[in-house]
Parts: sequence; structure tokens; C-alpha cells
Amino acid sequence: MSTCIKNIGKLINPNADGTWEEINDAAILFDDKIIRYGRESEVLTDAKDAQIVDAGGRLVTPGLIDSHTHPAFAEARAVEFEMRNQGKSYQEIAVSGGGIRSSVRSLREISEDDLVERMLPRMDRFLTNGITTIEAKSGYGLSLEHELKQLCAIKRCDQEHPLSLVPTLLAAHEIPDEYRHDRKAYLNIVMNEIIPAVAERKLALFCDVFCEEGVYSTQESRTVLETGKKHGLIPKIHADQLTDTGAAELAADVGAISAEHLDFISDSGIAKMAEAGVVFTLLPGAVIFLGYNQYPPARKILQAGGNIAIATDFNPGSSATQNLSLMMTLCCVFCGLTTKEALWATTRGGARALNLEGKTGCIDAGVDADLVVWDCDEENLIPYYFGINQVRKVFKSGKLVVNNGLII
Ligand code: NIG
Ligand code: FE
Repeated sequence: MSTCIKNIGKLINPNADGTWEEINDAAILFDDKIIRYGRESEVLTDAKDAQIVDAGGRLVTPGLIDSHTHPAFAEARAVEFEMRNQGKSYQEIAVSGGGIRSSVRSLREISEDDLVERMLPRMDRFLTNGITTIEAKSGYGLSLEHELKQLCAIKRCDQEHPLSLVPTLLAAHEIPDEYRHDRKAYLNIVMNEIIPAVAERKLALFCDVFCEEGVYSTQESRTVLETGKKHGLIPKIHADQLTDTGAAELAADVGAISAEHLDFISDSGIAKMAEAGVVFTLLPGAVIFLGYNQYPPARKILQAGGNIAIATDFNPGSSATQNLSLMMTLCCVFCGLTTKEALWATTRGGARALNLEGKTGCIDAGVDADLVVWDCDEENLIPYYFGINQVRKVFKSGKLVVNNGLII
């Protein structure tokens, strides 16, 4: 049976070119996909047999897309949060054996079933934040066995929970403790064992690498991404987060679909990525949570013709948030984005970064009926009430999954 949301005060639908379609007094008719949308008086004529939902004059947008997250972890790292607030830096904590390596140790101790159980409440929280699709990375296993365990857990969450999870292999997230003396040996395992095994089992769509001083060099990152490509995995890259390593240029060179963080991206990196059509994924949660103040140059990116996505980077170390609306606020306040630009980046931009454009992230006919009814009537109130969740209803593939802000 189809559903019709009527009495929509304002519907906003992101266009492919970065602009918006806005309709007042609108309605949307859908089953699992959007059937039609437009002025209420026109849509209602087709909705005779549909179940009617009254939006009460509120705002409706596509479901949000969180295109960069690390949700498959075992334990929080609040101890490191305290350490940073007492003056230790993220890198100092990492070099002394904490950071990602601490998440690797705890992840290796738990079973796949246990991991799924810990992840499912996080999936609920994405949905109640208006997020209907996430990208989910591995990268806390760092061995064949434990990377597969993470990716299998991600697949099970995708199957068992209404949220859609798009899997990314991030075996090159760090060098695990047991290979600190021989990083080449670990890289060989990544390229000769982990990538082929994951690709063969179709457990990931993307291959990512943390390209950073003290982690993977640009040369090593190139080799990993090229190997992933040979096995059919589309490149993504953690780029220029803490220093300018030339990772943005590398993203353009290898034909990455997106490059993420980019707080220290160079002008030449911006130009090359924009020309190559690589999506610029901004992760302001990691900037604020690590106590830094250098945000990505979003206005320069837009001036260069680049496409932006905004994501939470949800992970236990550098960005422990699932509130994508708050990430919009940070991009408006610290990067000078307008609300509409930020909302484009969390809907259509996120879909583009995940190769899902035309499938979700907009409200066109034939697209998955992933929709949010907000508790406000104007989009600029979303980032304005910062840190306040204003999601009222969420539809995922046409099914009501959040009502009055609560999971059904
Ligand atoms: O995107 N930069 C590398 N990876 C994550 C952090 C992961 C962690 O600290 O656990 C990020 O910020
Ligand atoms: Fe990340």
C-alpha cells in the first residue's frame, strides 16, 4: 500500500547541480520508492488509495546520508578525551600505543555476535538523527580475521536493521602492534591477502587508507588504493587531516570517489580534486573534538567548482558524535557555508560520495522513499538549534521507522 505525506509546509529537494527545488504546500506519494511529489492539490488526486500522513505544515527533506563513519568498534575511548583535555595531542596518544591501536586491541577480543549487538543501538541513533544511509568502515581489525569480522558485522547490521550501511575496507588505517617493526610485511598482507579476500566475498564497495605523517605515506597509500582498484574496490582516502601530505592530489590521480577531512588541503589539491570530480568530504566533528581550529576551506572548494559532502566521522577516537545536523552547524559557523549548501552536502553530496546518486539523497520519482519530517518549518532552523535533535518522523524505503523522534 502506498503512503502520502500531505500538508508539507515546505519540501526541499536537492538538484544535481547544487541548487534546490522548493515547494510550499506540498505532498509526496510513495511506496518503497517515490511515486510523485509536488503541490498538494495535484498529488492528492493520485493518492485516493494511499494511507495519509499529515505533516502539520512542517519541513520535509530527503533522509540524511552520513558518508564517513567508523561504527564497528568495541569500546569508547573516553580516557583519551580526558588526556587530550589535559594537554596531550591525538598524535602523542597514538604514538604511545593508544588511539586506533587501542581500538584494535579491544575489537580483537570480542566475537562477531558481540560486535553486532554493540552496533545495533548505534544504528538506532543514526536513524533518530534523521540519517537513513551511512558508510561504515572497517579498520579496527588490522588482520584478515578481524577485518572480515568487522565487515561481516557491518553486513549483518545492514540486513537486520532498517538503516542502510555501505561497507568500506580500511585495513590500511594504522600499522598493528605486531608489525610495528616491519610495516612492509603488514602492507603485503593488506595487498595480497585482505583486499583479495574482502573483494572476493563482496564485503566492501570501497577501499580507504589513512594517508598521514606517521601512518601511511602517499606512496604506500597509492599502492594500496591501486591494488584495491584492481580488485574492483573504488578508492577513498583520509587525506590532509593533520598535515598537507599531497593526499588530495593523490585522490585525483587514482580516481578516488571522495577524499575526506582535508583540513590542510593545498590550493593545488583543491584544483586537482575539483577537476577530477572527487567529492570533498568535510568532517568538522574531528576538528572540534580534537581541540583543533583549522577547518577545511569550504568556500575555496565551492569557488573551484568542487562538490561537498559533510559527514560525522563517527568513531571512538576523533569524533564521537552521530549528530549530522550539528556537523552542518559547524560547517556553517566555521566554514561559511549557507544552510542550503550544508543540507545539500548531507543529502545529495553524501549520495554522490557513496556512488548512490539517483538511488537515495533526493526526492525524485523512482528514488528510495527515504524521508525526514522535521519538527520545524524552515531548513535554517536545523543548524540554528545546534545540538538539538529536531527529527520528528523518518521513513526508510517508504516504511515509518521513527515517530515523534523515537524508534518504532
Ligand atoms: O577519521 N583519521 C583516521 N581515522 C579516524 C580516527 C579513528 C580513531 O581515532 O579511532 C578519523 O578521524
Ligand atoms: Fe575517519
